[in-house]
Amino acid sequence: CIDIAKLPKETGCFTYDPGFTATAACKSAITYIDGDAGVLLYRGYPIEQLAKNSSFLEVAYLLMHGELPSKTEFEAFDHEVTHHTMMHEAFRTFLYGFRHDAHPMAMMVGMLGSMASFYHGSLDLEDAEQRRLAAIRLIAKVPTIAAACYRYSIGWPIRYPKNNLEYTTRFLHMMKEVPSEPLELSPTAAKALDLLFILHADHEQNASTSTVRLVGSTGANPYACVAAGVAALWGPAHGGANEAVLKMLSEIGRPENVGSAVAKAKDKESGFRLMGFGHRVYKNFDPRAKIIREMTFKVLDELGVNDPLLDVAVKLEEAALKDDYFVQRKLYPNVDFYSGIIYKALGIPTEMFTVMFAIARTAGWVSHWLEQQTDPEAKIGRPRQIYTGYAERDYVDLAKR
Ligand code: ACO
Repeated sequence: CIDIAKLPKETGCFTYDPGFTATAACKSAITYIDGDAGVLLYRGYPIEQLAKNSSFLEVAYLLMHGELPSKTEFEAFDHEVTHHTMMHEAFRTFLYGFRHDAHPMAMMVGMLGSMASFYHGSLDLEDAEQRRLAAIRLIAKVPTIAAACYRYSIGWPIRYPKNNLEYTTRFLHMMKEVPSEPLELSPTAAKALDLLFILHADHEQNASTSTVRLVGSTGANPYACVAAGVAALWGPAHGGANEAVLKMLSEIGRPENVGSAVAKAKDKESGFRLMGFGHRVYKNFDPRAKIIREMTFKVLDELGVNDPLLDVAVKLEEAALKDDYFVQRKLYPNVDFYSGIIYKALGIPTEMFTVMFAIARTAGWVSHWLEQQTDPEAKIGRPRQIYTGYAERDYVDLAKR
């Protein structure tokens, strides 16, 4: 047990809060969440309005700068992002060092970490313009890197970014085009992906953003900070849930198996949870899930896709929302529950789902990193602990142990 008298005077209050359920580690003006009311605002704008009217790149500008851009500001931002989409050619050598069957998120962590080696020498963190440029480079290059990781994993040649396309379409073009086939990208697919990117762009102090801030608090290179964020996102309790949802739905297989899946999720001994259900902050509904649910039906209809997994998902949601276990614990579908079905309909392979999330969340990560760099109250992140080990004891020679 901690001896309060021994804590430094300025500590004030010492809390034990595993998982940081009730501890704010920073002040931020970027994103507001009211978990009880199901409200999500980016810089004050409701997510529903942004989803309906905006584009991902405009949202990225908003998160970074705090205001929606004028037409001229947006054109300049778009131009700058477009200008930075290319990867350094030496990235190929680095990429080709991975096992071809590595998970794309493993490659993403490595590739983004390696950006620190490409852009370290010239980076002065005291210079606001260089910090801004680092953020732009990340937003611009992450889709290029993501597409390259995927193409490498399936043995296709890497495609350069086609800079006459807009952000999301450019990514789809890099990732999906078969070398010998002409480009045919459905506007529905590009719009759906753009919308998913908007909904995933930021979510205040989630595990990956807090990781970016924790690493950033040490003055580390911003590319290394974002690589750490990608690593945190990968886990199935966070961004990896979208991949896990699709695997779970495939395993359930048919609507008639939903009952046993719900029963298994309620059984603590099983170690099984309904993936895409529950949220640390939303205890009523996740507003992003509501938008994505509606969009799933629309997109599948427009693309003419009939996915039996959608029936399984709908039945599973119905069954859980009627079940006391889920109702009492306020467990509702989260942003990841339906997103995988849309990704699948767009022809995006399951192991790329969390990479999609990473592309979108890069906008949030860099905005938080930028905000932190000018926060006069920012300190190195250094959580405390409750020590549960031995009291002081004497070393025993090896011969006597
Ligand atoms: N299925 C079954 N039971 C669940 C689930 C679930 N998906 N989620 C939580 N519970 C139960 C827990 O067992 C616990 O029960 P208890 O009170 O009887 O012990 C109670 O609900 C509270 O759960 P916690 O784990 O304490 O809640 P926490 O806020 O720490 O976790 C989390 C939130 C990680 C999202 C959790 O709900 C979960 O694991 N969900 C599945 C994974 C997932 O979908 N993650 C994506 C989150 S959204 C995002 O990151 C983009």
